[in-house]
Amino acid sequence: MTFLRNAWYMAAWADEIGDAGLARTIAGKPTFLFRRTDGTVAALLDRCPHRFAPLSKGTRDGDVVVCGYHGLGFGADGKCLRNPFADRIPAGSDIPAFAVEERDGIVWLCGGEAERADAALIPDFGFVPDAPHSRTVRGYTLMAANYEYGTDNLLDLSHIEFVHKGTFAGQGVIFGGEHSVQVEGDTLHSNWWMPDIAPPSVAQGVFPPEAKVDHWLDMRWNAPASMRLHVGVAPHGAGRAAGFEVPQAHILTPADDHTTHYFWSSTRYHDLDSAEADAMLLALFGEAFDLEDKPMIEAAYANVRGNLAAGGDFWKEKPLSLGIDQGGTRARRILERMIAQEQAT
Ligand code: FES
Ligand SMILES: [Fe+2]
Repeated sequence: MTFLRNAWYMAAWADEIGDAGLARTIAGKPTFLFRRTDGTVAALLDRCPHRFAPLSKGTRDGDVVVCGYHGLGFGADGKCLRNPFADRIPAGSDIPAFAVEERDGIVWLCGGEAERADAALIPDFGFVPDAPHSRTVRGYTLMAANYEYGTDNLLDLSHIEFVHKGTFAGQGVIFGGEHSVQVEGDTLHSNWWMPDIAPPSVAQGVFPPEAKVDHWLDMRWNAPASMRLHVGVAPHGAGRAAGFEVPQAHILTPADDHTTHYFWSSTRYHDLDSAEADAMLLALFGEAFDLEDKPMIEAAYANVRGNLAAGGDFWKEKPLSLGIDQGGTRARRILERMIAQEQAT
């Protein structure tokens, strides 16, 4: 599989990267992320050019990463600066360094040439960092499935009715809703609008059970697979501003063809200092994403993985279309176009 290169991949939550650094495979490349002495994050290919040791298994001397195998030293820009065996640095000893941006509590890594990285293209997740009026719980899980199969899951939330019986318990609301998919430039929106329904589980305690509400699930997608979900509920007919909205991040980063880093978050505007609320939400989302979504996505992917590994692709599997799945389908088409354009240039 070919990954989109000139795109921003979420590499980590910012607080995952401490002094010791973090080794993570991103879009097929072993990557070592670490903080320079000034606190900014750097990312190097985690592979020494000598005998290919991971630099993440080495040591640090200021901003120089020293290979733990035979001691070559590299700057945060990938330049080889030290050779313990001669005064001379051998030709071809530099390693790739990736452009990195820390924003919204997220470390973004550009998978292509650092010189071409355009930070203006990073999608907005400004709700993630804690603020005086908001609190966010966050999580991470590693999925044994290709990232586009994770995108399919998130852009088709009809699965809530079937997969999330133990958590979000859709109570059939999706079936009374309207689904729409729109593309604006390279941004895709896959939205559900469910008017005049009983309060969904997210509104428990906010509206009495006999109330009638309007409920929305607005999913925004940007390539490669960075998604923002707005879960909203308002009194029926009163307009969205009369209700509340829960913003969530659902960001998928391919590790390799068959493995995906799934970063998620959910923000609330009440009970800000409640450790119980944190624990309850972490348990709920942990169950929903780790114990409900993940096993289904992994099991579905396992059914096609052999064919894909043998050179097939999603379309050759002749996936049935139910209409509700057009968000994932269009996201695949956009990605295909972007990758083709990139390959052509
Ligand atoms: S493998 Fe890194 S110096 Fe030998
Ligand atoms: Fe789900």
